[in-house]
Amino acid sequence: MAPRSRHAYLAPAIVTGWLGTLALLGYRIATHRLGANPVATAVNQLGLLGMVLLVASLCATPLKLTLGLTWPLRVRRTLGLLAFFTVLLHFIVYLGADQGWDVIAVLEDVQKRPFISIGCCAFLLLFPLAWTSSKAAVQRLGFALWQRLHRLVYVVAALAALHFYLRVKADHTQPLIYIGVLLAGFAVRVFAARVKGRRRKARLD
Ligand code: HEM
Repeated sequence: MAPRSRHAYLAPAIVTGWLGTLALLGYRIATHRLGANPVATAVNQLGLLGMVLLVASLCATPLKLTLGLTWPLRVRRTLGLLAFFTVLLHFIVYLGADQGWDVIAVLEDVQKRPFISIGCCAFLLLFPLAWTSSKAAVQRLGFALWQRLHRLVYVVAALAALHFYLRVKADHTQPLIYIGVLLAGFAVRVFAARVKGRRRKARLD
C-alpha cells in the first residue's frame, strides 16, 4: 500500500472549516443575528470568503517559488473549488434574497451597476475552471491546453478584485490588500519564469 502523505489531512481540514463557516453563517441567519441588513451582510460575507479562497489558491505557486513550500500546492484544487462553490452561494443569496429570483431585475442591475457586471464576468469564467478541475479533465484536454485554460484564473482574480474595489464606497484598504497580494504573487511568477528562461538560454548557448 502506498504511504499516506504527511499532508493528507489538509484538504479535509479545509473543507471541514469551510462547512463550519457556512453552518455558522446559516445559524446567524436563522437566529436573526446578522444585524440591520441581513441579506447584504450574508452576500458580503460569502463574497469575502470567496475572495479569500480564490486568493489563497493563487498563493500556492508563489509560496513554492519563494519559500520552497510544496504543501499549498496539494490544497490548491480544493481551495479553487471551494472558492467556486462559495461564489455560487454568494450569487444565489443575491439572486434569491436580494432580487427575489427576478432574473430581469438582475439583468437591470448588471446594466446599472458596473461592479455587478464585473462580478458576473468573474463568476462565469469560474465555470470552465471548476468543470475542468479534475485529474481526468487534465488527461482529457492534455496538460498544455489545460494549463492555458487555467491561466483564466488570473483574469477571474483581477475581475473579482475590481468587483470588490468598486463595491466599497469609502475605505478601500481591504480590497487594496487583496490586490497587493495578487500583484505580489504575479510578480513572483513573472520573475521566476524569466530566471528559468535565462537559465535555459545559458544552457543552450
Ligand atoms: C468571482 C466572483 C465574485 C467574487 C470573488 C465576489 C466577491 C465579493 C466581495 C469580496 C464583496 C464585498 C464584501 C465586503 O464588502 O465585505 C462582494 C459584494 C457583493 N457582490 Fe460579489 N463577488 C463575485 C461575484 C458576484 C456576482 C456574480 C454577483 C451578482 C450578480 C455579486 C454581487 C455582489 C453584491 C450585490 C455585493 C454587495 C452586497 C451589498 O453590500 O449589498 N458578486 N462580492
